[in-house]
Amino acid sequence: MTTSSLGKLYPAWRKLEKHKEELLRFNLCAAFDCHPERADIFSVDAAGITLDYSKNLITEKTLTLLCELADQANLKTAINDLLTGKPVNNTEKRPALHTALRDPQHNCPDSEAVRTTFVRMEQMVNAIREGDWLGHTGQRISDIVNIGIGGSDLGPKMVCHALEPYRLDTLKCHFVSNVDPSHIDEVLRQVKPESTLFIVASKTFTTLETLKNAEAAKRWLLLHAPGNAVEKHFVAVSTAIDKVTDFGIDKENILPLWDWVGGRYSLWSAIGLPIAIATGMENFRLLLKGANAMDQHFSQANFSGNMPVILGLLGIWYSHFWQAQSHAVLPYDHQLTLFPDYLQQLDMESNGKSVNRNGEAIDYTTGPVIWGTEGTNGQHSFHQLLHQGTRFIPADFVVPLQTHMSNKDQHRHLVANCFSQSQALMAGKTRIQIETELAAQGLTKQQIDFLTPHKIITGNRPSNTLLLKTLCPESLGALIALYEHKVYVQSVVWNINAFDQWGVELGKQLSKPLYEALSGRPNTQIKADDSLDASTRKLVKAYLQNNHSDQNS
Ligand code: F6P
Repeated sequence: MTTSSLGKLYPAWRKLEKHKEELLRFNLCAAFDCHPERADIFSVDAAGITLDYSKNLITEKTLTLLCELADQANLKTAINDLLTGKPVNNTEKRPALHTALRDPQHNCPDSEAVRTTFVRMEQMVNAIREGDWLGHTGQRISDIVNIGIGGSDLGPKMVCHALEPYRLDTLKCHFVSNVDPSHIDEVLRQVKPESTLFIVASKTFTTLETLKNAEAAKRWLLLHAPGNAVEKHFVAVSTAIDKVTDFGIDKENILPLWDWVGGRYSLWSAIGLPIAIATGMENFRLLLKGANAMDQHFSQANFSGNMPVILGLLGIWYSHFWQAQSHAVLPYDHQLTLFPDYLQQLDMESNGKSVNRNGEAIDYTTGPVIWGTEGTNGQHSFHQLLHQGTRFIPADFVVPLQTHMSNKDQHRHLVANCFSQSQALMAGKTRIQIETELAAQGLTKQQIDFLTPHKIITGNRPSNTLLLKTLCPESLGALIALYEHKVYVQSVVWNINAFDQWGVELGKQLSKPLYEALSGRPNTQIKADDSLDASTRKLVKAYLQNNHSDQNS
């Protein structure tokens, strides 16, 4: 193995490389046989969550070395920098102070404005929930449509879905994000202009998808209502107050946020308005409280007992020393269906980087591909590859132990499946077990010899299990904060900035002249066909051939 620059930077890296060689024959089942106490040793409780990480390819020495690595990366200082508002986002010269939003004691640069905003948010929430906020014909609000994308969509949408059992029955929440007109159309067909409130959520208020969808929603409303209806049917959350008022939304209906709240870390701000409207301000506060409990743990616990630090370091262990390319997230709760989607932005937009904080190209891998779906659907889809495929994919199982549903028996099946999956990944199935089973079924020796290799499951595949007592606002807040901090821990060891996302910009820039070309407009930035590569030119031509008559619609 060639050592990356991290090996030169951190003495513990070299030790971990050597240690990995010692673990080449490590067997998880044998480790449990020799040390049944490893289930207790490799387990940690924080903020109402239990992490069982005993089914990992680690020994106590691994953990010690990983903690040494964290020390050498000055993680303690980096955690303090994050939580005290140092400009950890160094390319944009900003703090990433989302943790301040969930800490009632925190003195952030805009503490007074934060407090006032939460008070205004609460007034808005109560007025809507109690039926005091009326639409232009005097009807109460029955449907909320959040128009936003990325962090202004994924977080609130995931939480609203997760907290469905806490939703006020008389209020439905919809989310529109995609610029594809069928998305907004699909939602508008389900709601009525007299009783719908649109939330335009955009930190910058420049995001194409959000602006186009907001314009479409406004046009739709004004088809059915007088011009002054906009003030009763549109609110916004943004840093760009002027742009929002130019769009036509009343100043009184705008809740601000601040540049120190990153898009993918913004659900704790007024971007969480749909959550607060759906579940009530008290539940929104409990969500913040749960996240704050995880923040406290993150800032205070020793590395060897620090849940986000352990998850982050295990990810690094597998990425670098076991060459894992991806990480599966498998929630065993239908309400957490959107959790993997949410984590994709959180993790991949944060740590999908190839230069370090100084802008130097790096020679090691950074953020893994995050993917997954809710159990047991994944079991009948991609788990085959987890069990018998050639790729090495560590997985996180997330499971609440109590359900809000009355059908406890069906829930027991769900939990049994969750536990059996991590067990199967670890234990696999040996040649002897299979041969004995097939012989008992009466198969011939020839049949047994043929089938056995197909049925062998090697096992020894690692996973974490996260247990929540129940999926409630507090435990969900803690779970989200746990992953936010895991991502930060990894960025510190990799010496990258987790809080910018320059890579997203190029596609946005290129789409503008292409839009002009698709509109068939001459003299655009795409001067004549020759400024385009041959493939893109052919794609544009195909579009134009199929749309020549309706370019202005
Ligand atoms: O996808 C890029 C991005 O900049 C995200 O970081 C952000 O969450 C999203 O766009 C939406 O941005 P805005 O809230 O400014 O509309």
